[in-house]
Amino acid sequence: MTKSRDDREEQKHDPGRRKFLKGVGIAGAGAAIADHLWTEAEAKEKASTPESLSGTVKVVLEVNGQKRETQVEPRTTLLNTLRNHLEPAVTGPKLVCDVGTCGACTVLLDGKPVYSCLVLAVDATNKKITTVEGLGTPENPNAVQAAFVENDALMCGFCTPGFVTTISAYLKKNPNPSMAEVREACKGNFCRCGTYPRVFEAALAAAKSSQA
Ligand code: FES
Ligand code: FES
Repeated sequence: MTKSRDDREEQKHDPGRRKFLKGVGIAGAGAAIADHLWTEAEAKEKASTPESLSGTVKVVLEVNGQKRETQVEPRTTLLNTLRNHLEPAVTGPKLVCDVGTCGACTVLLDGKPVYSCLVLAVDATNKKITTVEGLGTPENPNAVQAAFVENDALMCGFCTPGFVTTISAYLKKNPNPSMAEVREACKGNFCRCGTYPRVFEAALAAAKSSQA
C-alpha cells in the first residue's frame, strides 16, 4: 500500500511522532496489564483476608469461680468487660493507663498476672480469671490483703488491687522471698503515691504469716 502524501509529509516533518505513539501504545498496554494484575492481586488479598468481625459477640468468662456471660464487641478488653459489661460489675481491677504500663488492672489468668487492659475478653474465655475480689473478702482476707491492712500499705489505693494480685501470685511461686525478689516481682506495678516501702514490707509480712 502506498503511503499517502499526508503520511509521507507527516513522517518527514514529524518523524518522532509515530514512534512516540507506538511507545504510548506499548506503555498503555503495559498499564492495562498492570491494572489487570493489580485487580487480581486485590481480589486475592480480599479472598485471603479473614472475615472481619463486627457487632457484638457473646462471651462467657469464668470470673472468681463464677460463669459470667455478656455481649461485647470483639475489640473489648477484659478490663473494660469486667468493669463495664458485667452486672454486677467487677471493679477491683482499676483503669489507670489503659496501655499496659501501670499494673493497676492486674488480674490472674490461670494463676498468672496479666494486664487486663491488654487482653481481649474474647481471648480470656476458657481461662480462670481471678481478680482481687476472688483472693479474699473483707471478712476473710488472704494473707496479702491482711498484710496490706496491717502495714498500712496504701494511700489513695488505686494501685493496691494490682499489687495485691501480683504479690499473691508471686508468693505461690516463691513463698519465702527476699526484699530484692519482692521488688523485682513488683516491677510491673506502679504506685503514684510512692507507698513502695510499705507495699514491700506487707509482701514480706504476708510471706511470713503464710509460713507460720
Ligand atoms: S490500666 Fe492496665 S496497665 Fe495500666
Ligand atoms: S496508693 Fe496511690 S497509687 Fe499507690
